[in-house]
Amino acid sequence: MKTFIIASLALGLSLEAGAGTALKFDAEAGVAGSMTTPFGQVVNYTAYTNIYYVSNVEDSTYQRLNIYVPEGATQQTPIFMPNGVAGYMAAMPRGINPGDASGRALAEGYVVVVAGARGRNSTVSRGGETIYTGRAPKGLLDLKAAIRYLRLFDKEIPGDAEKIITNGTSAGGAMSSLLGATGNNPAYDKYLKAMGAAETRDDIFAAVCFCPITDLDNADKAYEWTYGRCNGKQRHLTEEQQKVSEELASQFGEYINSLGLTKPDGTPITADNYQEYMGSFLMKSAQEAKDAGAEIADTIGFSFGGGMMAAAPMGRAIGEGGRPQGMPPGGPQGRPQGAPQGMPPGRQGGPRGMMMGGGSQSEYITAIDVDKYIGYVASITTIKTAPAFDRLGVAGGNASAENEEFGDSKGSSVNFTAYSLGKATGETSVNEDIQEAVRLLNPMRMTEDKGSTVAPHWYIRHGARDADTSFPVPINLATRMQNLGKDVNFKLPWNRPHSGDYALGELFQWIETICQ
Ligand code: DHB
Repeated sequence: MKTFIIASLALGLSLEAGAGTALKFDAEAGVAGSMTTPFGQVVNYTAYTNIYYVSNVEDSTYQRLNIYVPEGATQQTPIFMPNGVAGYMAAMPRGINPGDASGRALAEGYVVVVAGARGRNSTVSRGGETIYTGRAPKGLLDLKAAIRYLRLFDKEIPGDAEKIITNGTSAGGAMSSLLGATGNNPAYDKYLKAMGAAETRDDIFAAVCFCPITDLDNADKAYEWTYGRCNGKQRHLTEEQQKVSEELASQFGEYINSLGLTKPDGTPITADNYQEYMGSFLMKSAQEAKDAGAEIADTIGFSFGGGMMAAAPMGRAIGEGGRPQGMPPGGPQGRPQGAPQGMPPGRQGGPRGMMMGGGSQSEYITAIDVDKYIGYVASITTIKTAPAFDRLGVAGGNASAENEEFGDSKGSSVNFTAYSLGKATGETSVNEDIQEAVRLLNPMRMTEDKGSTVAPHWYIRHGARDADTSFPVPINLATRMQNLGKDVNFKLPWNRPHSGDYALGELFQWIETICQ
């Protein structure tokens, strides 16, 4: 912990930088440090800190990165790259925190790179004026520039820039998903060039996304389709908000149909079967928790059938099918990918594994009443008002984080969907610059675009009681990546609220598997 504090203090030093500072990496500048994990393991490392990753630095507080190289790392060691973005705000290039994924990654022997990024609240003062430096898509551009920096100096910096694994939570999860979805996409080039980013590739190897708050221009529809069913019950809206909720919910089906997603067996995912599709992930979540010993109340929407013959009607879920090449069935230690840690092999496969192994009398979840389950979530979690994201001026709504994110360098808050803009102002078309920022910040859109080198590996988590965005957002992201043929490990972990960097044993086992 002491090292963490000292590292953080060192970061607070302001460095002189300005337009045209050439990118450089000084291999002699490493400083020795050590970290003690919560389990008492001491990890020695070399830190290279306060490195500018663009040559035209606009905001010297954030456009820097830190590199931590644990003892024993080589040029072949994968690079774990967490971002600290939250609420679409700026993130400092932090130190290592022994208690989160950065510390765990270092302890596992990975090179850890923490880049700062501008965000909706970052400002500089120029000529007496306050300039907002980080409105969309600037935060993403910063992280892409940091990746390019690592590629530019791949031969000099320990670690393998072809094995970058990004990690983030919430808005940071969205950033991680964008890094995975937008690699090398020329749509970002002119912005990156203006920033003085290295002229190299920025695709990554794997994206770890905890509760990604993304697909922002469609998230309101998805939210009302999901939580609108609680209106007047667990969720209390004004009459005007209720009308907005109904209008948005009614747009969701068309959106789902437009995505062209399919199930692993090729069945199209449409407005007609979407609820069942979403329900299958919730059932799987509850079943896995149940298999691990959790009590699932029978009042929250699940039906149970006991015994061997009551097979749960759960199709192959994302992440269960595609085992990485060269991996024996059952994973490295006979543990299926994504199975909870600490579960003995015989019980890890969930219902299917148990059916095959035989002998268990425990109950299976056989059906879900989605209305009831969503009502349960709404009874234990605060549900956002309507609209959940593009809320500015709609039914009395104040600016959300997202309304600020798409604002300009003067610090404006703006509507970014035609629906909310229409409601708030009567205008029907969103300004072109805002439309472009929205597109560049949407991994769903940027993977429809053929210009991206999409990351081959995805780890996506969204808690089964997290209502900061609705279940369809991570489900659609995971499904899109699977449909693109990517290796996807996705689940809605049981009883998890809005959070990240949990079940690190499971995460780092997955990372080890994909890096083999
Ligand atoms: C975050 C949470 C939100 O509810 C949101 O709308 C945007 C970002 C966050 O925790 O990063």
